[in-house]
Amino acid sequence: MPNPKDPVDKKIILSGMRPTGKLHLGHWTGALENWVALQNDGGYSNFHLIADYHALTTNLDTSHIYEYSIDMVLDWLAAGIDPEHSPVFRQSQVKEHTELHLIFSMLITKSRLERNPTLKEQVRDLDLGPISYGYLGYPVLQAADILLYKGEIVPVGDDQLSHIEITREIARDFNRQYGNVFPEPEPKLTKFARLPGLDGKKMSKSLNNAILLSDSPEDVKKKMKKAVTDPQKIRKGDPGRPDVCLVFTYHKKFNAAEEQEIRRGCESGQLGCVDCKMRAAERINEFLDPFRERRKHYEGKPEEVKKILKNGEEHARTVAQRTMNEVHQTMKIG
Ligand code: TRP
Repeated sequence: MPNPKDPVDKKIILSGMRPTGKLHLGHWTGALENWVALQNDGGYSNFHLIADYHALTTNLDTSHIYEYSIDMVLDWLAAGIDPEHSPVFRQSQVKEHTELHLIFSMLITKSRLERNPTLKEQVRDLDLGPISYGYLGYPVLQAADILLYKGEIVPVGDDQLSHIEITREIARDFNRQYGNVFPEPEPKLTKFARLPGLDGKKMSKSLNNAILLSDSPEDVKKKMKKAVTDPQKIRKGDPGRPDVCLVFTYHKKFNAAEEQEIRRGCESGQLGCVDCKMRAAERINEFLDPFRERRKHYEGKPEEVKKILKNGEEHARTVAQRTMNEVHQTMKIG
């Protein structure tokens, strides 16, 4: 039965994240900002998945996976994802993901997957050693995630581009082999793909250099105080170099109206680092205030959050089953 909520004329957005715990400003600037903007545009139909099976590729311990998934849903809702319009769901609860993954795994070679640069980078950065069969197939499962909903636009961070390229190849190969079922999805990046962490490295919760979307105003100020600045600017009065200072990046992103004034103040030495950081903290707090308001609504209402997931999963399942029927017919299976 067609779901009345399913759009007929809107472009499909599909994106997801692995449930690794609370989200930070880097997740917002890297992808989430686009999810919310596209949702609010009105011309798109968004689907957002919690990639809980993908999480197993690098960590077999599932004891916190549910808690992390809920934390992530709360962050999405706080950021402005509206579950009435954008179903949110766990990959593990829509069985069709695993089925399509299996079919797709026949359409791609092992050597193509071994050449995937994101995989190579992760193996090196996380010191993973020998990897599992499932991990090699990470982008194949991601292709199933996207194509099950016939996703056309995939708003993600730049580290995901190589995965989306594999999704496009798989869609093309399936269509050529069996008949036209899938679109070739396009990635969509934000302007600010990478926000540095408070130590200048990539923002990441495990590096302890992140401002969380759920941080209190006091947390934000405390963290900003510790941010690394231009090492040549030691005290107020010393001229600084905004372009090498990560705090200036935060001004560019969250305080665009004062960007030029901050630049002049820093370069002339009139603006000290402590004041500059506190001004950035204030703007970030203003930015996060509406998130805090929305979060307040959901916190302490676990039943409501569970219901949101349940509804999202039902909606996703309807669409996924429809696609799988089409896949079976096209392949003349079943
Ligand atoms: N690989 C993505 C990440 O690490 C998560 C993900 C899983 C995803 N499935 C997806 C992203 C489908 C976009 C579309 O962030």
